[in-house]
Amino acid sequence: MSRLRLSSTPVAIILVTQAGFLLFLYAQHSGIVPRSVEKSDQVHVHVLILSSWRSGSSFVGQLFSQHPNVFYLMEPAWHVWTVMNQNSAKVLQMAVRDLVRSVFKCDMSVFDAYMPWKRNRNLSDLFRWAASRALCTTPACEFFQRTNITSERFCGTLCGKQPFSKAEEACRSYSHVVLKEVRFFDLKVLYPLLADPSLNLKIIHLVRDPRAVAKSREQSVEGLARDNEIIVGSRVDDGQYKALREICKSHVQIYETATQRPPLFLKDRYLLLRFEDLVRDPLVEIAAMYKFADLSLTQDLENWIYNITHGQGIGGKNEAFQITSRDAVNVSQAWRNVFSFQKVQRVQEICRDALNIFHYQVINSEIEQRNLSLDLVLPHQRTQFSWASSNKS
Ligand SMILES: *[C@@H]1O[C@H](CO)[C@@H](O)[C@H](O)[C@H]1NC(C)=O
Ligand SMILES: *[C@@H]1O[C@H](CO)[C@@H](O)[C@H](O)[C@H]1NC(C)=O
Ligand SMILES: *[C@@H]1O[C@H](CO)[C@@H](O)[C@H](O)[C@H]1NC(C)=O
Ligand SMILES: *[C@@H]1O[C@H](CO)[C@@H](O)[C@H](O)[C@H]1NC(C)=O
Ligand SMILES: *[C@@H]1O[C@H](CO)[C@@H](O)[C@H](O)[C@H]1NC(C)=O
Repeated sequence: MSRLRLSSTPVAIILVTQAGFLLFLYAQHSGIVPRSVEKSDQVHVHVLILSSWRSGSSFVGQLFSQHPNVFYLMEPAWHVWTVMNQNSAKVLQMAVRDLVRSVFKCDMSVFDAYMPWKRNRNLSDLFRWAASRALCTTPACEFFQRTNITSERFCGTLCGKQPFSKAEEACRSYSHVVLKEVRFFDLKVLYPLLADPSLNLKIIHLVRDPRAVAKSREQSVEGLARDNEIIVGSRVDDGQYKALREICKSHVQIYETATQRPPLFLKDRYLLLRFEDLVRDPLVEIAAMYKFADLSLTQDLENWIYNITHGQGIGGKNEAFQITSRDAVNVSQAWRNVFSFQKVQRVQEICRDALNIFHYQVINSEIEQRNLSLDLVLPHQRTQFSWASSNKS
């Protein structure tokens, strides 16, 4: 008996290995094994940075854009809102979703619907194209190497005349496509993309203290007026915080949809990130985001991240990040010194649910507001997919 077992061992090993391999192939094919199990440089990953205006999403976008495996576009749906500005945000969400789906698949013909016809369309016809490192480096633009950290300013002057077709060519040469969007207000709109077997979509939901958002929005009233009109249906400077109310509501809705009885296809595909956690501990949060997206941190990126969070932007003080030449933690707290307590109270009323759900401390006096030793950013567990139905009441 034992002799038989011994002599048949090599055969058994071969058989088991083969069977295992076939099973693996079958499971892959039938989608039983999640695609993220594969080696990260083979797998295609689509990441949506889902956020809102003035919430640090350009900064988070750059953390992905500068990664040499990532094709990034900042806010491609800007084109949808600009061309179809007579519609409501709710109506436009579907068009935005379809554009996002095409861009994830590197099909840039979708922009034909939203760009004026031109004989020689260039990269510079894309909104904020130069914020994409992939559009500034080979094969899109020969002036920079893929591993270079690029600056929107230098790239903007050197690479803008490249033909538009380079965007698609470049996109197809990357394993990861990352898009940043502030124009979704409902997670369910994205369900068809999450369930689409030709996509491997992961969502990073970026939120920020609404009081900081309100203060920042106040500084860009002009720039936000047109978007506000689409959000609330009338051209307001949002002194009444009507748009902010909708924004806070949508973040709560997105978070609750993702965490309370989420559908199975959301498993491992939703990550909540608070901007304040990111600026306080960038490397820890970035490591978590990269892991979620199947990316690894390089030494070059780590050095660059240190620089941009500690006052050294590569393009100098005018670099288009929201955070460069100032200390990131200080910037994230600036509202406490300059925003009036009355406005803080108003924002707290409008966004109370968002403050509670994302664990920001509500303040009750101006003394509390100005006392920076009082930390208003309460600990918050990193939210992965959870079976909320079974472990929450
Ligand atoms: C880009 O990377 C190449 C190769 O690593 C390097 O020689 C070059 O100096 C870099 N250029 C810029 C502008 O950083
Ligand atoms: C694109 O750049 C080329 C030069 O490379 C120029 O001839 C053409 O006019 C530009 N097209 C547009 C639409 O700006
Ligand atoms: C970081 O900043 C230092 C000092 O300005 C500079 O010498 C270095 O090249 C920067 N590194 C990166 C990766 O940006
Ligand atoms: C950040 O804030 C602290 C305390 O308010 C201050 O001492 C420090 O100088 C600030 N740093 C920068 C770079 O602004
Ligand atoms: C500021 O807040 C800290 C932490 O809660 C507290 O210990 C301190 O007494 C406060 N200072 C003032 C002036 O209220």
